[in-house]
Amino acid sequence: MNLIERLNWRYATKRYTNVKVPPEKLQRILEAVQLSASSFGLQPYKVLVIENEELRKKLLPAAYNQPQITEASHILVFAVWENITSEKIDQYIQRIADVRGITVESLADFKGRLASLPARPAEQNLNWAARQTYIALGTGLVAAALEGIDASPMEGFNPAEFDEILNLKEKGLKTVSIMALGYRDAEKDPVSKFKKVRWPKEQLFIHF
Ligand SMILES: Cc1cc2nc3c(=O)[nH]c(=O)nc-3n(C[C@H](O)[C@H](O)[C@H](O)COP(=O)(O)O)c2cc1C
Repeated sequence: MNLIERLNWRYATKRYTNVKVPPEKLQRILEAVQLSASSFGLQPYKVLVIENEELRKKLLPAAYNQPQITEASHILVFAVWENITSEKIDQYIQRIADVRGITVESLADFKGRLASLPARPAEQNLNWAARQTYIALGTGLVAAALEGIDASPMEGFNPAEFDEILNLKEKGLKTVSIMALGYRDAEKDPVSKFKKVRWPKEQLFIHF
């Protein structure tokens, strides 16, 4: 199947079998998430990879009992940095220098541009960081589809309760979105048979 066929095949799965995603497929999906684009390349988030069943049972009511949480093989939780600090900017600059084998000094201009981030209101940075996570979520959805793995993007949960259960406050993180991964249970999931609904191209795209 080519990419478009894969994108037609995928859908936001509601019911999963308990079959596990093989580790090599999971690793490739995670690698795609890792390779996702982000503004400045900063990736101001972490991705929690949750397989533990007990933990997922605890999370279930905080996601309005949506069955994907416990039926899927894994859930990924995208959580933004609560604060963008100058320490984090320094670490990122050091990381670029290390990976590219260049000096920190040679990155002074770039660092100067990043320096404005810690000075911005926390709320603005949270919103900005959340937008970056959605790019990673989208990249993960496409990667899962290419691997023949079903996935569910999810925002239907209580972020504060997730943060509490996952102890994210002490990690300086805030939950934004979830992606469940696994194999669809086509018998239990009527949505698996629904036709995909999208705006027609002539309505969606405006050509100039
Ligand atoms: C950010 C985001 C959050 C979503 N949250 C939920 C959710 O909590 N529960 C759910 O069943 N579907 C959720 N969806 C799935 C959408 O309803 C679905 O992607 C949309 O109807 C398009 O259908 P398709 O993805 O199956 O092609 C979410 C999708 C996105 C992109």
